[in-house]
Amino acid sequence: MSDRSRVAIIGCGRVAVKHLKAIKKLKNKSELVALVDVSEDAPKKLLESAGFDTSNVKIFKDYQEMIDTMKPDIVAVTVPSGLHFPIAKYAMEHGCNLLLEKPMTMSSSESRQMMELSKSTGKKIAMGHIYRYFPFVRILREDISLGVFGKVTHGTIYARWGHGDDYYSSAAWRGTWKADGGALMNQTIHAIDLLVWLMCSEPVEATAMISQRLRNIEAEDLGMAVLRMSDGSLASVEGTTATSDKDHEAMFTVFCENGVISLGLKKGIPQLHIRDGKGKNLNFRYIKRHIAKYGFGSLLNAVNPHTGIYDDLIDSIASGSEPVAGAQAGFRSVDTLMGIYRSARDGHTVRLPLEEDFSSTDMAGYFDKR
Ligand SMILES: NC(=O)c1ccc[n+]([C@@H]2O[C@H](COP(=O)([O-])OP(=O)(O)OC[C@H]3O[C@@H](n4cnc5c(N)ncnc54)[C@H](O)[C@@H]3O)[C@@H](O)[C@H]2O)c1
Repeated sequence: MSDRSRVAIIGCGRVAVKHLKAIKKLKNKSELVALVDVSEDAPKKLLESAGFDTSNVKIFKDYQEMIDTMKPDIVAVTVPSGLHFPIAKYAMEHGCNLLLEKPMTMSSSESRQMMELSKSTGKKIAMGHIYRYFPFVRILREDISLGVFGKVTHGTIYARWGHGDDYYSSAAWRGTWKADGGALMNQTIHAIDLLVWLMCSEPVEATAMISQRLRNIEAEDLGMAVLRMSDGSLASVEGTTATSDKDHEAMFTVFCENGVISLGLKKGIPQLHIRDGKGKNLNFRYIKRHIAKYGFGSLLNAVNPHTGIYDDLIDSIASGSEPVAGAQAGFRSVDTLMGIYRSARDGHTVRLPLEEDFSSTDMAGYFDKR
């Protein structure tokens, strides 16, 4: 018997390619045992695109049948977001750990249920919040939490992740309230998760507005929000797909009493600007520390952060520790997003965590009335 983690992927579309490449890279720790998709061709196309040996991989159309017969150690849930909850719940109730793509679910109460299920079953959830697995992030978070930069005053993020109407029309679920949400829920949730994590406190209030500017979708292609954090600091969020699809950029900045930390991506090129309170550049110091702790090869994880997520999940299952982006991260980012949507819908500030359930489908018809 192999002691590698047996992984099954449910949903063989765009993001599944990244999962396959990660499993291939971690071949000493993981093996792909099954693929599930309702589309006949999707599993074969996926295996070919990632250059995978198909002989040991079983193909299923029905996820319940796959889980019942294969009993994988890890189920990767890479179906449209509106289907995450029933599939993730079934997998966890049947003994599987999860690599669950973001957003965890489409409502605050479903995400809370997943977090509680992880606690009661002892099974792990690693969220597809890729930004936490970028180089330098973990060391910076550790230093911010230890107070190396002093008090956190505020943080900002923008995710200008342009997508044209061709992206939205490539699958019926994209840009819908039921199965996807808009630019905030799909593209910006990674950034919100990272900013909140780096700031080392919890969002307690959200005030937001959303808009439709250029894309022909049901949900927003532009959103802006301000979060009040539990330590009194503030965070601003801008997320949009109404920019050029040739010009993706995302930047995070955390302002502290004794320094500023800025990191992000512009046209695929990593950005890093770390300064102390006197303006001295600390980039090199952090690059050296990162390499000393995680090795030079870990810098390449930026190419496919899913490798870091699988590696972390497999280690967490073995050690019993929580993954870097675990169930709580999944719940908190969905709860924050639902607070942002609710604030935009109702036109006032909303307290977090939400006391009453809110779902992306509660936004249905929002733009029809405007
Ligand atoms: N973490 C990341 O960087 C990242 C990047 C892209 C997408 N995502 C997330 O991954 C998920 C999938 O996105 P995508 O772009 O790959 O979508 P996609 O439309 O390209 O692929 C989804 C696949 O799921 C299949 N599917 C649908 N219903 C199914 C069912 N009941 N059982 C089995 N298969 C089913 C579809 O046939 C399709 O092949 C979304 O939740 C998205 O938000 C995460």
